[in-house]
Amino acid sequence: MTKIVTCIAPVNIAVIKYWGKQDEELIIPLNDSLSGTISTEFMCAKTTIMVSPLLTENKFWLNGKEQSFDNKRLNNCIQEVRRRANPELPQLNWKISICSENNFPTAAGLASSAAGYACLVSAFAALYEIKGDISSIARRGSGSACRSIYGGWVRWCKGVKNDGSDSIAKQIAAASHWLEMRVLILVVNDTRKKYSSTDGMQRGVKTSELLKYRSQTIVPRRIEAMVKAINEKDFHTFARLTMEDSNQFHAICLDTYPPCVYMNDTSHGIAELVHLYNEYKASNKVAYTFDAGPNACLYLLESEVEEFLAVINEAFPPRENQVDYLRGIPVTNRCIPEKMRLSLNIKRHEEGMLKYIIHTKIGDGPQLSHRPEDHLLDEAGLPKR
Ligand code: PMV
Repeated sequence: MTKIVTCIAPVNIAVIKYWGKQDEELIIPLNDSLSGTISTEFMCAKTTIMVSPLLTENKFWLNGKEQSFDNKRLNNCIQEVRRRANPELPQLNWKISICSENNFPTAAGLASSAAGYACLVSAFAALYEIKGDISSIARRGSGSACRSIYGGWVRWCKGVKNDGSDSIAKQIAAASHWLEMRVLILVVNDTRKKYSSTDGMQRGVKTSELLKYRSQTIVPRRIEAMVKAINEKDFHTFARLTMEDSNQFHAICLDTYPPCVYMNDTSHGIAELVHLYNEYKASNKVAYTFDAGPNACLYLLESEVEEFLAVINEAFPPRENQVDYLRGIPVTNRCIPEKMRLSLNIKRHEEGMLKYIIHTKIGDGPQLSHRPEDHLLDEAGLPKR
């Protein structure tokens, strides 16, 4: 009678940011946003859910620790999947066991909640046999999670209905559309506690007039330009729009009162280096974007990866003998061409300003598995480890 499924789901990195809600409860955003879905090969959330008449209690484990089931966003998602299911399904009345983990450190401040909720909702949708779009359900867990329901390039359309039913994500291009696209995630060493995106957004909506202007006037036209740049694989324009949008998002965070400061000196140093490199190349070859934290996400084409990594290593050298510094897709070590070195005049920062780098690419949406060896829960609904 028991039903069990396991799902893996991707992280996504926005190039046009979501920041600010018009409805806090339903999580309806003030503006559309657009992101690239990151391959699950090196970064993903994995969730197993079991529903069974034999379970006596609802249970939830995250990264090896038991969590309270009394979590509003989790319960909003469960309520919403149940509402969409055929009410006659017996499993709707069975207790639930959930076990979830990320294959990258949550402490790195990388968008783990987006992958986590996309994973959770995809698994529930399979167990409760739900058809059709489920991005509006994932949205109730974490806004940006709705974009992780699809692979490739994804737009979250804010919608016009008060109930949020048309606030959904849509794929604008598959991962295969721009195969040369690569992503470098520069994990910045930082211990400062940041404000949660929920608090930051709330404060921004209340106090920042720039936020109003951005969502009403700038994003609608910028997002159309971004869709066009992606469709045409126009990297130069894509990069410019990405960097402008990240900068504007952080400007709004500073325009918030009291301000939310997410980028640190290392983040600004990385942005400066990208501009220096792009100027030297006389066109945009690398784009940076920063979310609600100091880590940099760089979009660049495969042809630039080796050289730009050499530039990063020159400016932000790793600690001596550091193992596992460059993770993900392997890269051949390269030296910076002498002419470029002289011309760029790179400022060398202290060693160890970056914790590590993940080299990855654009990938597909969530994937389900029914294979027993993939499940994180055993037959009794308890974590295997
Ligand atoms: O989904 P949330 O509440 O974690 O918000 C994420 C907001 C940003 O990551 C900063 C931007 C975005 O569009 O992903």
